[in-house]
Amino acid sequence: MKIEKMFTEDKAMKLQKVFETEKLLNEIRDTDVLLERILTEARLIANADAGSIYVIEEKQQSTQTTRFVNYENEEFNNKLLRIKYAQNDTQKKKMLPDAKTPYVYFTVPITKTSISGYCACTGELLNIADAYNIPEDSPYKFNSSTDISTGYTTKSVLTLPLKTNNNQILGVLQIINAMDENGNAIPFSNDSIDYIQQFASSATQALEHTYLTSNMIKRMQRMAEFRDPKETAAHVERVSDFSLEIYDQYAKNKKIDAAEKMKFRDTLKIAAKCHDLGKVGISDTILKKVTPRFDDNERSIMCSHTCIGAQLFTEPESEIDEMCRDVALRHHEWWDGSDKGYPGNLDFKKYEIGTPLEKATPLKGEEIPLSARIVAIADVFDALSHRRVYKEAWSIDDAFMGIQNFAGKQFDPELVLAFLQVRDRIISINSAYERMENLQN
Ligand SMILES: [Fe+2]
Ligand SMILES: [Fe+2]
Repeated sequence: MKIEKMFTEDKAMKLQKVFETEKLLNEIRDTDVLLERILTEARLIANADAGSIYVIEEKQQSTQTTRFVNYENEEFNNKLLRIKYAQNDTQKKKMLPDAKTPYVYFTVPITKTSISGYCACTGELLNIADAYNIPEDSPYKFNSSTDISTGYTTKSVLTLPLKTNNNQILGVLQIINAMDENGNAIPFSNDSIDYIQQFASSATQALEHTYLTSNMIKRMQRMAEFRDPKETAAHVERVSDFSLEIYDQYAKNKKIDAAEKMKFRDTLKIAAKCHDLGKVGISDTILKKVTPRFDDNERSIMCSHTCIGAQLFTEPESEIDEMCRDVALRHHEWWDGSDKGYPGNLDFKKYEIGTPLEKATPLKGEEIPLSARIVAIADVFDALSHRRVYKEAWSIDDAFMGIQNFAGKQFDPELVLAFLQVRDRIISINSAYERMENLQN
């Protein structure tokens, strides 16, 4: 819905829109996808030019399960606010049409000295009419560094906690510069604040639901990480982020309709994280072996992680289960159907692999599920561009070339094209994770 149009709507219609949006949020299953959507919708409701959304995380933890902070009695020493998404319409207008805003990564200590920190500490809503005229005796100050680096001018700032009914803080929502009909930044009106408070409370409930799924997946990831330290949480998260970028571009190229795109990307974000969960079923002698190279039998055992992973999702009960199974089973298939791909071209029964596994039907081309074809690219690119115990990291250019050279062989050429089109986003995700790892070490 156009922002200008929302101006002309009366209160009842606006409330109706808020309720409709809340319903929509409840259909989203992935936490990140939901956070991005909450920010977009909150800005639309309050006609805000910009905004950010933060979650609370523990410091120095490789796989962060999301923390709920009780603001009344919790110490914040071991926690921080991590920005998940930032949006800015004014900045976006300066970019190419349809370009995404840059991938951002920074954290804020949970202290009363910053606006978002104050909100997380106290659970209070802050409505600031002019960020550059905050009274001297306020505990919090406005940090103008982003304005200075971008040339943007922040004026009104509405910051509110994403607070559950039990006073647990999940994160902080901040919207910036309410706009009038002429495009001037004005303070947030009392009506806007009412709508946003109502919206934030439902958004928080939707968020709590997605945390159940995402924390369960994170625990499974951590289990896989205990077994195979090569399969780090950061690798899994990057593969999931890359997959989403590839799919978004592919959906744009193929003009996939908005509803289908929304549903697929939400599920893909979760399923991509499950690609190698089957490694939990591989013995240490194989999993931890670095040199010499695997013999045929050992290689086959290693390849069986695809079938073992799929077994975690047999008798699927949801679309997420189905896609997780597809991704786990098929992320090593080759587009050209060659015997380098597996498990379709491997007969496990020839090898001693302990658990008997069904032979998977050989697949090629579009027979391989789209989700698995996407994750295949994201997984290989991440392995190439990062150091592993058995190899040094390839340069970014070489890693992109490595994928490009296998278009039409190992990888779906249309997806490789989409991958190359989002090169800048992929690089910015890589650097964001690097910064995060440096901060944690
Ligand atoms: Fe794998
Ligand atoms: Fe992987």
